[in-house]
Amino acid sequence: MNILLIGAGGRENAFSLKISQSKHCTKLFIAPGNAGTAQFGQNLPIDVLDFEAVKAAVISHQITFVVIGPEEPLVRGIHDFFLADPALAHIPVIGPKKDGAQLEGSKDFSKNFMHKYGIPTASSHTFTIETLPQGMAYLQNHSLPIVLKADGLAAGKGVLICTTVAQAQAELTLMLAEAKFGKASAKVVVEEFLHGIELSVFVVSDGQNYVILPEAKDYKRIGEGDKGLNTGGMGAISPVHFADAAFMKKVEETVIIPTINGLRQEGIHYKGFIFIGLMNDNGQPSVVEYNCRMGDPETESVLPRIESDFLELLMAVADEKVADYQLIISPKTAATIMLVSAGYPGEYITGKTITGLENLKDSTAFHAGTVLDNGLVKTNGGRVLAITSLQPDLFTALQQATADAGRVYYDGVYFRRDIGFDLL
Ligand code: AMP
Ligand code: GLY
Repeated sequence: MNILLIGAGGRENAFSLKISQSKHCTKLFIAPGNAGTAQFGQNLPIDVLDFEAVKAAVISHQITFVVIGPEEPLVRGIHDFFLADPALAHIPVIGPKKDGAQLEGSKDFSKNFMHKYGIPTASSHTFTIETLPQGMAYLQNHSLPIVLKADGLAAGKGVLICTTVAQAQAELTLMLAEAKFGKASAKVVVEEFLHGIELSVFVVSDGQNYVILPEAKDYKRIGEGDKGLNTGGMGAISPVHFADAAFMKKVEETVIIPTINGLRQEGIHYKGFIFIGLMNDNGQPSVVEYNCRMGDPETESVLPRIESDFLELLMAVADEKVADYQLIISPKTAATIMLVSAGYPGEYITGKTITGLENLKDSTAFHAGTVLDNGLVKTNGGRVLAITSLQPDLFTALQQATADAGRVYYDGVYFRRDIGFDLL
């Protein structure tokens, strides 16, 4: 069958590699894709938030299966758009409808959902401009630090961790009264700070049952030793040794099953990935956030460990047959190191020529922000390349990924050399 994959990052590059390897894939199209996805299919230069343009591409390329990578088209209702159009309604779309995408699209929705279904998470309260005075009073007696979250999508910037009450009050006012994050901060969730070590858990649901994918750990800060500004993710590893069978059993019983059951009880028929951001506090899992998609760069560590046909898993989601699907996972360790542009996560320059990709010894380069320009691969984003090495153990994977990251060059290239070493 002809498949359309929506997205343009490292996650979609990993998806496109796996999907193109499947015996069920006739032709893969990626919209808009990048220089990396072009190795595995045909890029379509369309605006994926223009659903009419997506429809035109689906019809002209006789596409019969659609996979959505990023959250924004899902939160804006691309799946609902397909269902509402008689020419598209029969085409399976992997990724939730608008109702399910609220797990990520509205922090207020997801907190209410977790509180309602008894899923462990930080205690919280939501405020709006009308309840700003109550919010200011609420902050007065709050434990420190205080976490403020813009309700809507804010390009990964909507979470603030405030160390004083005065700072939290100033930020709450900016978010609600001055629209610091635009419409996304029309509601603000104020929540308790969770201590512990973070873990990304991935589940794929067919609306009835679920499959748990390999877990991963993401490294969010720009600087070594987890210092400096937050980024989209500077690296990842999978598996994560503290996510042992006993911990994962707790996660399944206290988080995953109540989430799947809660969605069903809400009448949300969820077909797609659920990314559960967890805090492990001395063996007790607590949910930091849900995302309605796979993680990036976690996918670049998780997918290389999946040995079974990944497209068959997605087809089982479409057919509501994941209960019968056998996921085969490699026991090896994947380590991913992200190469970023100078200045990232602040303002950065693009258009730099990338060299050395042919010199990698034992890693895969997943393209995140690249573009083909007259036969040259050039930087085209803050996060440029995810270098993944799959090896028998964590140390070898880290050593190989780090060495291979050093073999790639462009003006201003930066990467962290300490990814995963905290877990050795
Ligand atoms: P989010 O956008 O919800 O993923 O939050 C971004 C990051 O902020 C998370 O990955 C955590 O590192 C941090 N964070 C969010 N909420 C909390 C919390 N309640 N306690 C501690 N850290 C948090
Ligand atoms: N790596 C975190 C995310 O994808 O949101």
